[in-house]
Amino acid sequence: MATDIERHLTKLREFHQEHLLQYWDEISDDEKLLLIKDIEEQNLKEVSTYFATAISSLDADHLVLDAKLRPIPAKVSASALNSTPEELETYQDLGLKEISDGRVAVLLMAGGQGTRLGVSYPKGMYDVGLPSGKSLFQLQAERILRLQNLAELKYKKRGSITWYILTSEATIRATREFFKRHNYFNLNEKNVIMFEQGMLPCFTLDGKIILDEKYRLARAPDGNGGLYRALKVQRILEDMAEKNIRSIHAHSVDNILVKVADPIFLGYCLSRSADCGVKVVEKSSPTEAVGVVCQVDDSYQVVEYSEITEETASLRDENGRLKFIAGNICNHYFTKDFLQSIADVHETELKLHVAKKKIPYVNQKGERVVPSTPNGIKIEKFVFDVFPFSKNFAVWEVTRKEEFSALKNNDSANRECPSTARKDVLELHKNWLKQAGATTVEGDVEISPLVSYAGENLSVEGKSFKGPIVL
Ligand code: UD1
Repeated sequence: MATDIERHLTKLREFHQEHLLQYWDEISDDEKLLLIKDIEEQNLKEVSTYFATAISSLDADHLVLDAKLRPIPAKVSASALNSTPEELETYQDLGLKEISDGRVAVLLMAGGQGTRLGVSYPKGMYDVGLPSGKSLFQLQAERILRLQNLAELKYKKRGSITWYILTSEATIRATREFFKRHNYFNLNEKNVIMFEQGMLPCFTLDGKIILDEKYRLARAPDGNGGLYRALKVQRILEDMAEKNIRSIHAHSVDNILVKVADPIFLGYCLSRSADCGVKVVEKSSPTEAVGVVCQVDDSYQVVEYSEITEETASLRDENGRLKFIAGNICNHYFTKDFLQSIADVHETELKLHVAKKKIPYVNQKGERVVPSTPNGIKIEKFVFDVFPFSKNFAVWEVTRKEEFSALKNNDSANRECPSTARKDVLELHKNWLKQAGATTVEGDVEISPLVSYAGENLSVEGKSFKGPIVL
């Protein structure tokens, strides 16, 4: 161990991180092993470069970015709101055909820590209190099941949708157990593939890696853009190639209305031969906490709500609509080839985002402290930072009421919380029933995704419903 420790110390000194061993003499043998494992897992050269790049972006002047922003040009975008029923049907058929041919995968991003919601388990396990008591994972699984059936009905050939679930050290174990316990929600277990993103160390503002305990580094998932490295390292791209998958729908775990593997979105992107696409909704107000999809210089980007000034976010066009109106709902289309090119060529070029956070640390006296003000930074990559590498980018606008209700906070926030998510699902289902000819719908009437994916297949003409019930 003694020569080993010298070797580690030399390496750490090279990157000014020798403080990581400062409690060496105070920790047990088991703890020593844990610490060495943590240190060995770090690519110190790479993370030091990350720190230098990330910290320089902290001083970025928002006004400079603001001046470069331009709305998305019409040539790359279309909207479900003003497409004809025939156009929508054409897209949907293309998407269903892709599913029936077995060429579709869903890439669920579920590696986040869900800090704002304040639960200790993965967000996908959350039950917002619908009459069925279904979790977000179950709703998504059942939408996949229903779509496979719809595609088979239409094209007389059953294709499976492979469900790749990105997890992190923080969520992998509980997610695996949850799926097992629920028998994979009746999906074929072989088609549900979980993989794990990487972690990055947290730094003090002067570049020292923070110790979370005397024997453990403070680390956090590397952001949802960590997906691209994980796809390669964990051989998911190889799996996609073996399965001949072409179209991938990637989305966040927390949108309760998400149209998983939405055939219309898939079909729209296929019809335009897009390699990368994004679904957007109209921003509800200038200050809504969503990123905006826009153009910066010559490339497409999402500019996060924290990166744009309120003045620019409030700009309106001659018709009184917000100038930067395309709200990002973390819902993307990629071809397998595009993902491969990101993983092979561009992953190291991805932007690094940095956030000042309160990160628990061990102080000079060796005590663990939970700070009350930000004391360090977390570095993250973002899933949408691949847009500039797209050769054929496409934007698809959809209706918020039908497709977007995110679960970010607990109920005390009164927005993007369990009660708004529940309300939005029930309101949508009520509309479906009304459109299908139901006379009255009272109380909480929920429609299982196994019955209807998007309002189809409801024989309710002239019927009345009184909740709470699940159809
Ligand atoms: C995200 C979008 C934002 C959009 C908003 C809509 C990103 C970076 N930002 O913001 O532009 O307006 O959704 O709701 O996409 N995740 C991981 N690993 C991580 C971190 C996150 O898998 O290391 C997953 C989360 O589990 C979640 C998704 O990525 O499913 C979005 O992450 P979150 O941190 O919630 O992003 P937002 O800030 O809400």
